[in-house]
Amino acid sequence: MRLLSTSCGGIRGTMHFLFLLLFLLAAVLSCHGCPDRCLCFSQTVKCQNQELDAIPHSLPADTKSLFVTGNNISRVGVDSFPTRLEMLTDLHLSGNEMESVDAMVFDNLPNLVLLDLSNNRIQTFSDRAFPEDNKVQLLNLSRSFHNHSFMDVVLGVLQSGNLLQLTALDLSNNDLVILPDDLFAGLPNLVSLSLQNSSILSVQNGTLRAPPLRDLDLRDNSLRDLPFATLAELSLKPALSVRLAGNPWRCDCLFEDMLLWLKNGTRVVDAQNLTCAAPKALRLLPLLRLEHSQLKCSGDMDGVLETSYVFLGLVLALIGVIFLLVLYLNRKGIKRWMYNIRDACRDHMEGYHYRYEINSDPRLANLSINSDV
Ligand SMILES: *[C@@H]1O[C@H](CO)[C@@H](O)[C@H](O)[C@H]1NC(C)=O
Ligand SMILES: *[C@@H]1O[C@H](CO)[C@@H](O)[C@H](O)[C@H]1NC(C)=O
Ligand SMILES: *[C@@H]1O[C@H](CO)[C@@H](O)[C@H](O)[C@H]1NC(C)=O
Ligand SMILES: *[C@@H]1O[C@H](CO)[C@@H](O)[C@H](O)[C@H]1NC(C)=O
Ligand SMILES: *[C@@H]1O[C@H](CO)[C@@H](O)[C@H](O)[C@H]1NC(C)=O
Ligand SMILES: *[C@@H]1O[C@H](CO)[C@@H](O)[C@H](O)[C@H]1NC(C)=O
Ligand SMILES: *[C@@H]1O[C@H](CO)[C@@H](O)[C@H](O)[C@H]1NC(C)=O
Repeated sequence: MRLLSTSCGGIRGTMHFLFLLLFLLAAVLSCHGCPDRCLCFSQTVKCQNQELDAIPHSLPADTKSLFVTGNNISRVGVDSFPTRLEMLTDLHLSGNEMESVDAMVFDNLPNLVLLDLSNNRIQTFSDRAFPEDNKVQLLNLSRSFHNHSFMDVVLGVLQSGNLLQLTALDLSNNDLVILPDDLFAGLPNLVSLSLQNSSILSVQNGTLRAPPLRDLDLRDNSLRDLPFATLAELSLKPALSVRLAGNPWRCDCLFEDMLLWLKNGTRVVDAQNLTCAAPKALRLLPLLRLEHSQLKCSGDMDGVLETSYVFLGLVLALIGVIFLLVLYLNRKGIKRWMYNIRDACRDHMEGYHYRYEINSDPRLANLSINSDV
């Protein structure tokens, strides 16, 4: 009995201990509680596709990666992260129909390295969104902007002067069309840049000069060639590799520099996949199989000249026909006019004859000599 009671007491003690443990665990969990509609595991918090309209508060203080994706968060601002999260490095806010990124939103995330804002429709982005001493290295702005009328918003973000640590920037799928000269001038550490599928028409020299690029993706744009000065600038970047497939290259006489550059270097990793889009005769021909002798502009010029000669001939013929028609319609007037001229001539000739006869009359000549004396 005694033995039993003591062992019972032992069990009771153990139970007490277990309850205490459970209580402590619950306390710890509630302190680092996982927010409603989120999953928390090993310093990762996922709140995905939950129709949330704001970033959940009371996130575990040791969170490293936070995924709040596929929700409905139209803006983030200074109140989005009310407590400091020292350990948070990766923040994924993709697919939230986000329209506005306000000032000081990331001030409580001092160690943020990766920010994914892809698949949103950003219309305003404060140039004070990032704190001055931020550590952001990877910024994903793929399909983040609605259309090219928000180019100045992109420009504002990249030129805020705060993204000094940025090494990788994804600006793909954004319909940018034209790249301002100084777009990347404020990114002194950018090595990886994607501008894939962004409707880009040309890359002017100067645009890519500043960043020490090593990886440049220009696939699936509207490039017809790259100007010589741009090629020269790209050649100055020793470790650069470029992807250029899916552009409508125009293989005419102005393409010679580009072809030389392409065949000479190893910078274009997908050179095998580049093809001409124009002229028609060279369509789909791989650029690497293109010969310099095939790059012509004169062919087009001959065509233009030929058509302009034909046109000129037609115009001259038409003028001729009109002239003849006018003559024909005025034939009576012209006849009268010719008679008039003939009569005038005849009168004139008669007058001349008359004067000539007078001058040649010797008597009159004598008279005139006498009168001189
Ligand atoms: C998203 O939020 C807006 C208002 O912010 C609301 O009008 C809309 O219905 C929401 N959409 C969904 C799918 O919850
Ligand atoms: C950016 O996000 C898109 C989709 O959200 C993804 O496909 C792409 O790989 C990301 N870019 C980088 C550089 O991680
Ligand atoms: C760009 O998107 C805005 C907002 O949706 C729209 O009002 C504007 O008409 C669009 N502009 C162009 C050129 O598509
Ligand atoms: C290319 O970008 C446009 C937006 O500019 C997007 O609508 C389209 O789906 C993208 N294409 C691909 C293949 O991702
Ligand atoms: C681009 O190149 C042209 C000619 O090579 C040069 O005159 C011009 O100053 C350059 N522009 C920039 C922004 O470097
Ligand atoms: C071809 O490349 C070599 C070295 O890689 C360089 O010296 C030469 O100038 C280049 N030629 C042209 C036409 O770019
Ligand atoms: C070239 O295109 C093919 C087919 O689209 C693709 O599988 C291959 O990866 C491309 N090569 C390079 C170097 O991008």
